[in-house]
Amino acid sequence: MAGGDLAPALTAVRLGLHVLGATVWVGGQVVLAGLLPSVRRLGPGAPQAVARAFGRLSWPAFVLLVGTGAWNVAASGSHSPAWWAVLWAKVGVVVLAGAAAFLHSRARSPHALAVWGALAGVASLAALFMGVVLAGP
Ligand code: HEM
Repeated sequence: MAGGDLAPALTAVRLGLHVLGATVWVGGQVVLAGLLPSVRRLGPGAPQAVARAFGRLSWPAFVLLVGTGAWNVAASGSHSPAWWAVLWAKVGVVVLAGAAAFLHSRARSPHALAVWGALAGVASLAALFMGVVLAGP
C-alpha cells in the first residue's frame, strides 16, 4: 500500500479482520499470562475455567487469522523471493503456534503446561512481527 494513501474498502475489511484475529489470538495470550497470578488466587479450578473460556474466543480467532491470511496471499500482487521466504517462515510459525496451543490445552503436568504455553506465545508473537514485515511500508 502506498504511504499516504487511503486503503480501499475491501482491503480495509481484509486487513481489519486479520488484525482483529491477531488482537484476540496474540493479545489474549499476553493478557491471560499477565492475569494468571490473580486468577490462581480465585481458587484451584479457576485457571482451567478461564483457559476454557479463552479457548472459545481464541480458536475462532485462529480460524479467522488463517482464513484472512489466505485471503491476504490471494490478494497480494507480485513479490520478491525474500517476501515469499518470510511468508513460508510465517506459515511455519503459525502451524507451530496452533500445535503448541492445542498441546497446551491437553497438557496436565505443570511442566508441559508451561512449555507448550510459552512456545505458543513466542510463535504467535513471531507470526505477528512477520506479518508486519509482510505488510511492508
Ligand atoms: C498467528 C497467526 C497470525 C498472526 C498473529 C498474523 C498477524 C499479522 C499482522 C499483525 C499483519 C500486519 C497487518 C498490517 O500491518 O496491515 C499480518 C499481515 C499479513 N499476514 Fe498474517 N497473521 C497470522 C496468520 C497468517 C497466515 C496463516 C497467513 C497466510 C496463509 C498470513 C498472511 C499474511 C499476509 C500475506 C500479510 C500481509 C498482508 C498485506 O499487506 O496485504 N497471516 N499478519
